[in-house]
Amino acid sequence: MKQSLKIMIASIAFASVCLHPALCRAEAKKGLLVYDSIYSSTAEVAYWLKAIIGNEQQLDVKKIDQVITVKPYDYVIIGSYSKWEKPSPRIYKFVEFWKDELAKKQVSYFLLGGDWDETMVLKVPGKDAHLIGGRNYLYAIQENFPQIKPIVIGGFGGRQVMPTLQGIDGFMIWMLEKLAKEGAAWAGLDIWESLVPERVEVFGNDVRQKVLGLPPLSDAQKYRGFWTSLQPASLQDPTKQKYTVRPYTVNHNTAQIYFTRSRIKGDLNLGVKLLEEWAKDEGITLNLRKKSWFNTYYHAVKNINGKDMTIHVVAATMPDDPGTVHFAFRSWDKPDVRKPLEALITKAEQLIWSNGRKVDGR
Ligand SMILES: Cc1cc2nc3c(=O)[nH]c(=O)nc-3n(C[C@H](O)[C@H](O)[C@H](O)COP(=O)(O)O)c2cc1C
Repeated sequence: MKQSLKIMIASIAFASVCLHPALCRAEAKKGLLVYDSIYSSTAEVAYWLKAIIGNEQQLDVKKIDQVITVKPYDYVIIGSYSKWEKPSPRIYKFVEFWKDELAKKQVSYFLLGGDWDETMVLKVPGKDAHLIGGRNYLYAIQENFPQIKPIVIGGFGGRQVMPTLQGIDGFMIWMLEKLAKEGAAWAGLDIWESLVPERVEVFGNDVRQKVLGLPPLSDAQKYRGFWTSLQPASLQDPTKQKYTVRPYTVNHNTAQIYFTRSRIKGDLNLGVKLLEEWAKDEGITLNLRKKSWFNTYYHAVKNINGKDMTIHVVAATMPDDPGTVHFAFRSWDKPDVRKPLEALITKAEQLIWSNGRKVDGR
């Protein structure tokens, strides 16, 4: 609702500026959308984005193996599937090869992947707990090629059709399912689908506005047919819905993890301020692990009975839920040990939810 209101206001503002021809300078630009895809879901999104971004101006959509040059283009959109927490190796090679040219152009990145939720932290044996999902996988490429400053970035979620996974892919996904401490949402499904259509639409409309100077589409939803399909989630049970929107509000208390997720009205600055207030009140040290313009990840450390104990805390804003900031708290300590941490998380939530800030639902 809020999103469509924003789009309406932006369209009206754009239309009124364009009534004055001297102010309306949306010059025709030539664009390239280059993507890499193994199982085709990124290809579907590439053509979906072309429909949103529009046919008013040339936008070539090419699979990565078809691209000879980026030189003739004013702007380049680079899309990929995620594999092992990164865009594809071929996308890395492409960006490495063309980095000097790309640095002179307007570049945007988007990713499909197992999940979109940028408050997610993964803990698997042999690795430090770290942020995963959505735009988090675009950190490294931006750090590696700082001369390219993307105008728009997007992490949409994606689709995985389990019976079609080739060779080692199927085995590795099965392994991940077994190792994920919070459990894997795709377990038992033939098709796992996590893509949030609003995220694709926000990305497409951002490119229209920020790169092309075109008004956002207020009816971008009409192109969802590029993605929706009648394939069932489980071949054993065709009535099973393949797409269940991952909830914004969660309270999960198992032998492996204490995990809560919620959201409030506000922005990331407010989110960080509230976490700092909580830390000060409770004698907690906030160790910053990662910071971007859309999320912040801390280890919240408290000495309890002579031992440092850690809550993993993330605050993040979401393109699909404008005007809110989302919080996730996690403890992987054993249930009998983590009780004091659970109490601290409850205190954090009381503080961040106060003054009518909490947003319920979903
Ligand atoms: C072997 C393998 C590894 C993957 N690794 C990740 C990952 O680390 N993070 C993630 O979010 N998604 C991961 N995915 C999910 C894919 O990125 C997702 O299914 C995407 O939609 C596939 O795009 P495609 O259909 O264009 O190939 C992985 C998928 C496979 C098969």
